[in-house]
Amino acid sequence: MPRVILGFDDDEAVAQYAAREFVRRARAAIEASGGFKVALAGGSTPRRAYELLADPSLSVQVDWEATHIFFGDERAVPPDHPDSNYRTAFETLLSKVRIPEAQIHRMEGERSDLDTAATDYEATLSEAFDLSVESGPPRFDLVMLGMGDDGHTASLFPGTRALDETRAWVVANDVPQKATRRLTLTAPVLNAARCVMFAVEGEDKAAPLLAVLEGPHDPNRFPSQLIDPADGELLWLVDRAAAARLSRKPEDPSNSRVSS
Ligand code: 6PG
Repeated sequence: MPRVILGFDDDEAVAQYAAREFVRRARAAIEASGGFKVALAGGSTPRRAYELLADPSLSVQVDWEATHIFFGDERAVPPDHPDSNYRTAFETLLSKVRIPEAQIHRMEGERSDLDTAATDYEATLSEAFDLSVESGPPRFDLVMLGMGDDGHTASLFPGTRALDETRAWVVANDVPQKATRRLTLTAPVLNAARCVMFAVEGEDKAAPLLAVLEGPHDPNRFPSQLIDPADGELLWLVDRAAAARLSRKPEDPSNSRVSS
């Protein structure tokens, strides 16, 4: 399916749309299959969307009892650490909605043996999706992603080993550029989703966004180019500052074929 690039005036408008799109996809998935499985984005960009989702005006529209929350990636820190993606999601959203604790599937970034933490998370995925690890990757209803100013997404950083992963669903990725290791879902899992929704904001993202969307295909340099769902939608939500260098003007969300 072709990707859709939607343009917004500012980060607040991106967050509003992302939150409503979460609700729309949740309701559609629960109606269709009785459940909604979503992988949350890390970093700072999604905070506002999570806060909006926690507001009763939106949160009451989601059946949280039928929702399972996963994470696209996690830093090598404990869940109460300021850099923890879990902590961000918990403080802004998960602690404010009636989701059963057992349906919040945290990546255990604090563990000393991150490789085992990665295979344990694969086991969590296979149980939740009722899949054997030998079978094809789990198919999320929605994957939320951000993009770094180097073009990375989740914890798929330029020039790192995880970029070449074709079999594993989750890996502990060495990220020398940050002198750390990160847990991350791999491209095969991200690309198996029904919908992948990027939210990208700010002028520091303008150059990498241009390279990712309009530049030559070089995912080793710009890993966000790896994300191209085989049988799913690809949405890019970009604000005016991030889209400033694009030669093709993003679509106006109000008359886009993806109405939220
Ligand atoms: C992480 C994220 C990462 C993030 C980008 C953008 O754990 O850091 O998963 O991929 O989406 O780095 O981060 P910002 O939203 O903070 O710019």
